[in-house]
Amino acid sequence: MNIPAHIAIILDGNGRWAKLHNLPRQLGHKAGCDNLEQMVEDMARLGVKYFTVYAFSTENWKRSEEEVGALMGFFRLYIRRLKKRAMANDIKVMAIGERSRFDEDIREALRDVEESTAENGGMVFVMALNYGSRDEIVRAVRRLAAGCAEGTLSPGEIDEDMISRNLDTALIPDPDLLIRTAGEQRLSNFLLWQCAYTEFYYSDVLWPDFHMEELMQAIESYGSRERRFGGRPAPAK
Ligand code: IPE
Ligand code: IPE
Ligand code: MG
Repeated sequence: MNIPAHIAIILDGNGRWAKLHNLPRQLGHKAGCDNLEQMVEDMARLGVKYFTVYAFSTENWKRSEEEVGALMGFFRLYIRRLKKRAMANDIKVMAIGERSRFDEDIREALRDVEESTAENGGMVFVMALNYGSRDEIVRAVRRLAAGCAEGTLSPGEIDEDMISRNLDTALIPDPDLLIRTAGEQRLSNFLLWQCAYTEFYYSDVLWPDFHMEELMQAIESYGSRERRFGGRPAPAK
């Protein structure tokens, strides 16, 4: 079976899952976190090299204070528990997105899990947190423009590779397969630049119910497609 090297998932449908089970929205997010713990290990076991998840978007701050607070609480717990499981499974953890908006203890937990797992040689697990593709591009453009203003860079030197290297995903290859759960068929500001040649797969299954069986269906669909060249491979270390 042709296992994609980099699979990205837009985790969607936690709220609808909770509603379906007559539970408060928060418990949908809890079920989503539990499913993610399992999925990370399943992906590593399958031989996926990079697994990226869209966990919290720059737009998600607009949700109710109560829901944002609950999500932050789950991130706290999730990131702390992640370290042990990542170490046990040789997984390297990275985060993309703008983290200054998170509380200091969450930022510290992220730093800790990234540093502790930096030398692990197995799958790379990437969490997009307070991530928005447009925000990421704006931050990259500002950095390049500052270089031009200081005279260390000339506009003519800016090419596609330089832009890629200035995104949060500088060290991560472009996704081969992007999955969105829960029936919606939009990108919602996720990896706009990086998905130029990515294969998309949509599933109606809500994220807390998306398991190995659904993942294998997505991989099978991917395997039957004829791909065009264009993805950016992993940069040399
Ligand atoms: C995805 O589930 C999780 C986050 C965006 C944090 P949603 O909360 O978007 O679930 P629905 O779309 O309301 O079902
Ligand atoms: C996308 O899901 C963002 C994440 C999964 C983190 P949303 O549910 O927030 O996106 P929209 O509102 O349907 O576009
Ligand atoms: Mg949603």
